[in-house]
Amino acid sequence: MAIVLTKPLAWKNASAEEQQMLQCLQGNILKGHGRDETVNIFFKIDPTKKLEMKRALRELANYHLTSADRQLRDTDRFHQGGKPGLTFVAAFLSASGYSALGATAQAPKTEKQFFDKGMRNAASLAAVSDKTADWEAHFNQQIDGMILVGDDERRQVQFKRDEVVKLLKSGGATILHEQIGSAVKNHHNDGIEHFGYVDGRSQPLLLVEDIEREATTAGTSRWDPEFSLNAALVKDPAGGADTVSFGSYFIFRKLEQNVQGFKRQEQILATTLGLIGSEQRELAGALVVGRFEDGSPVTLSDEAKGANPPNDFNYTNDPGSRCPLHGHIRKVNPRGTAATERAHIMPRRGIPFTDVARDVHPSDLPGSEDLPDFDANVKPDLPMGGVGLLFMAYNSNLTNQFVFTQQSWANNAGFPSAGVGADPIIGQGADTAVAQTWSVKWDDTGGGTKTLNFANFVTMRGGEYFFAPSLTFFKNL
Ligand code: HEM
Repeated sequence: MAIVLTKPLAWKNASAEEQQMLQCLQGNILKGHGRDETVNIFFKIDPTKKLEMKRALRELANYHLTSADRQLRDTDRFHQGGKPGLTFVAAFLSASGYSALGATAQAPKTEKQFFDKGMRNAASLAAVSDKTADWEAHFNQQIDGMILVGDDERRQVQFKRDEVVKLLKSGGATILHEQIGSAVKNHHNDGIEHFGYVDGRSQPLLLVEDIEREATTAGTSRWDPEFSLNAALVKDPAGGADTVSFGSYFIFRKLEQNVQGFKRQEQILATTLGLIGSEQRELAGALVVGRFEDGSPVTLSDEAKGANPPNDFNYTNDPGSRCPLHGHIRKVNPRGTAATERAHIMPRRGIPFTDVARDVHPSDLPGSEDLPDFDANVKPDLPMGGVGLLFMAYNSNLTNQFVFTQQSWANNAGFPSAGVGADPIIGQGADTAVAQTWSVKWDDTGGGTKTLNFANFVTMRGGEYFFAPSLTFFKNL
C-alpha cells in the first residue's frame, strides 16, 4: 500500500511501510528539530570531483544525517525525561548542486521556476521584490548545498561542524559561508525573535500525535492546525519506483532586523493612537504583529495574558478593529477554512541570528511611558542591524506556499482588500509605500482610524531555494 500524503501521519502507530518512509526521510520536516544552537554551512561543489563529493555525501548520510524516525524517537525519549538526542544534522542541495554532482536526473522536477532557477535569478528576485544589492557577498554567488547542524550545546554543534566540514572538504567542496543561529528565550522560556515577540507558536501540524496534544492542551475548535503530509512532502525522484522516498523543498532567507527602527515606530504608533503609559502602549506592537510580545493574540484581548499563548482563534467577526487586516500573522495566515487558502500554509523552522551581540536581552528592556522616554532610555540599547531571523521553511509547492505568501499576501497592499497595505514586518517592494490604517479604539469601529506607514525594518540579506532529498538519494550516490 502506498504512503497516503493526503492526511497527517500517526508515527507511533506507523505501518511497516510508513516506518521505512520515516527512516528514509530527513528530520526537521514533519516536526522542528527543536535545538537551540545551530550552524548553516553553505558550500560549493567542484564539478571535476564528482566521485569524491558523492563519496563524502554518502558518508554524511550513513554516519551523520538525522532521519525523521531517529529525530522523533529522540524527541519522545527526551520529553519522557530521558537524555537529549544526538546532534541534529540535515543536508540540502540547490538545483546547481544537483547539476554539479551530475545528478540532475534525480533532482525534484515539480518546481521549474523558483527551485530550478534559484533565488538569485532575475525572475525569482522580482517575484518577491528581493534586491541582491542588499545581499551579503557570500550569498550572492552560486551555492550548491547547505548542511544544518543543531544541538542544545554550542560545543556539540562545533564538534559536529568540524566533522562535517572535514568531510565536505574531502569531497573537494569549498565552504562559502557559515551562519550561526541561536534561540532567544523570554522569561517563560518561549522562543522569541529579535523584536521581542514569541515566535513559532502557530504551525501546521503534520503528526497525529502533535494534533491530538494540541487539541487536548490548547483546543482546535476555531483554528484547525491539522495538515496533510503533502503540505511539505513530495516524492523524491531518486527513490525511483520505491514508495518510501520523500523530500521537501526548503527556503533559506537571512532576514536582518532593525530593532531600533521597529521599536521606535511602535512608539510613534502608540502615540498616534493615543495610548497612554507603558502597559497600554504595548498594544501598538501587538497590532503590528497580531500578537503581544508574550504571544497573546490581539484579536482575543487588548492586553497581554502571560504564558502559554493560545492558537485556537480565527478572525470571524473581527473586521480589523481588534487585529488589523495587515497585522503580520493575519496577513500570512488569514485563518479561513477554504482548502485553497490553507494550501498556502507551510511548516516554518526559523531561528534567530545574533551576528553582533545585543547590549540588553530583548525581554529585559523596560517599557516606555512615551516617545521621549523611549528615546532617552530604551533606544540607545537597541541594535539597528547585526541581528535577525534565519527564516527557514519546508514546502511541497514553493510557488503556492512561500512565494505566494511573500508576493501575494505580505508584499501586496491590496490583500485582503484594496488599500490595506503591506505586511508591516516582512512586506517588501513598491506597496510598502502605502500607509496602513489603524483602528483608534480596540474592538470599536466607532472610534475612527489613523493612518501610519509601518514598513522596511526587515532587510533580506541573502538566501537560496534548496531541496531536502531523501536519505535514499544520498546513500545511493
Ligand atoms: C524577521 C522576519 C520575521 C519576523 C520578525 C516574524 C515574526 C513572527 C511572529 C512574532 C509570529 C507569531 C508567532 C506565531 O504565531 O507562530 C509569526 C508568525 C508567522 N510568520 Fe513570521 N516573522 C518573520 C518572517 C516571516 C516570513 C518571511 C514569513 C513567510 C513568508 C512568515 C510567516 C509567518 C507565518 C505563516 C506565521 C504564523 C501565522 C499563523 O499561523 O497565525 N514570517 N512571525
